[in-house]
Amino acid sequence: MTAEQKVQPYQIKAEPVPERFARGWYVVGNSASITTKPRMLKVFGSKLVAYRGEDDGEVHILDGYCPHMGGDLSGGEVKGNSVVCPFHLWSWGSDGACDHIPYAKKIPAKAVIKSWPTLEKNGLVFIWQDPENNAPIPEQEPEANADWYSGEWTDWEMRAIPIASQGRELVDNMADMAHFGPVHYSTVKSFRNEMQGHKFIQYMVGGHQILTEGEGGLITSVATYEGPAYMTTTMTGSMDGHPMRVHLLVSHIPVDKNNFIINFGVMMKKDPKLSPEENQAMLDEYTEKNIESFHQDVAIWNNKCVIDNPLMCDGDGPIHMVRKWYSQFMTDVAEIREDQIKHRQHVTIDGPTVEEVLAAQGQ
Ligand code: FES
Ligand SMILES: [Fe+2]
Repeated sequence: MTAEQKVQPYQIKAEPVPERFARGWYVVGNSASITTKPRMLKVFGSKLVAYRGEDDGEVHILDGYCPHMGGDLSGGEVKGNSVVCPFHLWSWGSDGACDHIPYAKKIPAKAVIKSWPTLEKNGLVFIWQDPENNAPIPEQEPEANADWYSGEWTDWEMRAIPIASQGRELVDNMADMAHFGPVHYSTVKSFRNEMQGHKFIQYMVGGHQILTEGEGGLITSVATYEGPAYMTTTMTGSMDGHPMRVHLLVSHIPVDKNNFIINFGVMMKKDPKLSPEENQAMLDEYTEKNIESFHQDVAIWNNKCVIDNPLMCDGDGPIHMVRKWYSQFMTDVAEIREDQIKHRQHVTIDGPTVEEVLAAQGQ
């Protein structure tokens, strides 16, 4: 090789951290995590207050600092559907308008704080983030999970996991076939992706370190992002010889531009032959094993760098496709291009499909 032909060392490129947060619905916790005791949410680079109205039972989320003199509303009290600041007792309604000042004759016209759009569905509480401040996009509302409402499944077992990284890094995982072996000790027999509109799906069949199906047995996994941050996975397999069907929640919410929390959840189809305690024990065991497996990802995310020009090889999954899809949520609605949302499919490993494996297992 002559000096002219020598390949130059690869230069990793990375744009500065984006100024905005991706538009969409984010999970702040399960339903039980929001009560009539105000809870502080450190999200989107600021502090918000979440509480449940005493009268309407609904979840409300407001900006967390009182504009009177900066009191922390999460230290206050809920009265009716309002939250009362602990500093001088100004009361803020669920629409964000000040509705009472105990020592004033007139409420200042400017006394309004931001009331964030919220949604309670599938046992989870969501908040809508939009840099353009528009109302939630109706088609992007998370779909109802019939299993959560059926009574045949457990509730979510939740954990919050802090990670020093950005959302896009987590979303890469959807297309990153090659990390399952080294990071999760899983074998992948088939791997497909599909995008359309605000959804991105990963279909995988393989062997799995927790849900193994025994010699030659297979697990199936279908992971779906609805918007930039709400991801649920349905998995089948068996643990210690016991057939399992589970939904995982892997939903992240930014704390600031360089950190996010993963609101991680597991719900499991109850085995009617087992007692509630035995079902709970199985859920606990599975959740702990999953958290362990998840921390294998976390260790990677906490230490890796952001790379905008990843050096791909022919066996890799469609990282560029998932990033293109994700970019729609960083784009003003009026500027969204067809290639960010159009229907596309990609097969990284052609093998047995999820449907074929489920049919063979009689599911
Ligand atoms: S700072 Fe909130 S009432 Fe004064
Ligand atoms: Fe992973």
